[in-house]
Amino acid sequence: MKFFIDTANLDDIKKAYKVGVLSGVTTNPSLVAKEGVKFEDRIAEILQAVPEVESVSAEVTPDAETAEEMIAQANELIKINGGDKNITIKLPMTLDGLEACRYLTKKGVKTNVTLIFTVNQALLAARAGATYVSPFLGRLDDISEDGVLLVAKIAELFRIHNLDSQIIAASVRHPDHVTRVAMAGAHIATVPFSVIAQLAKHPLTDQGMDKFAADWKNATK
Ligand code: E4P
Repeated sequence: MKFFIDTANLDDIKKAYKVGVLSGVTTNPSLVAKEGVKFEDRIAEILQAVPEVESVSAEVTPDAETAEEMIAQANELIKINGGDKNITIKLPMTLDGLEACRYLTKKGVKTNVTLIFTVNQALLAARAGATYVSPFLGRLDDISEDGVLLVAKIAELFRIHNLDSQIIAASVRHPDHVTRVAMAGAHIATVPFSVIAQLAKHPLTDQGMDKFAADWKNATK
């Protein structure tokens, strides 16, 4: 399973990229709004900051409701940085979003269908040619449903029917989500930087380092 970072915060993106574990970036209108920056400018900055990833998702804005409006926005987004091949158009899981997905896929543009909460939605998105489908597990857990189980079912469905779309486990809240979606067959988990940092930590690692440091100091004084 690969890691994407789920943020529009440039510092966090640069920190995660520097560690060397990053394969992509996902953003959404809420994440961009939180940064108080111009959407297209921030996408351009992100694309420049992470040249060696496979995908940077830029979501069409909520005022694009029809497929035509989404495609019009996508046509502007794919021109950013002179047509960066990593730009991925994130589309909502609606009939218009699917129509835009099919159109953009045929044009060779990468797509990410977002806000997926059922197996059937994932199947539709895959059939519309989505490069990525994004089930939101944390938001399902929030309403007492099992988000990881949804990811597992989608992974099984894609395997049975040889569907090429990659599953991005989204709305990931903590390290246990990461372990469980990896075991469930997600291709990618998109996570905030705080979760990447948590994944690297263990109290026994810290204790072990402290002991090595103390023993080294004793032996070399
Ligand atoms: C995914 O692409 C979304 O940006 C994201 O994971 C949403 O997560 P949230 O439920 O924490 O807002």
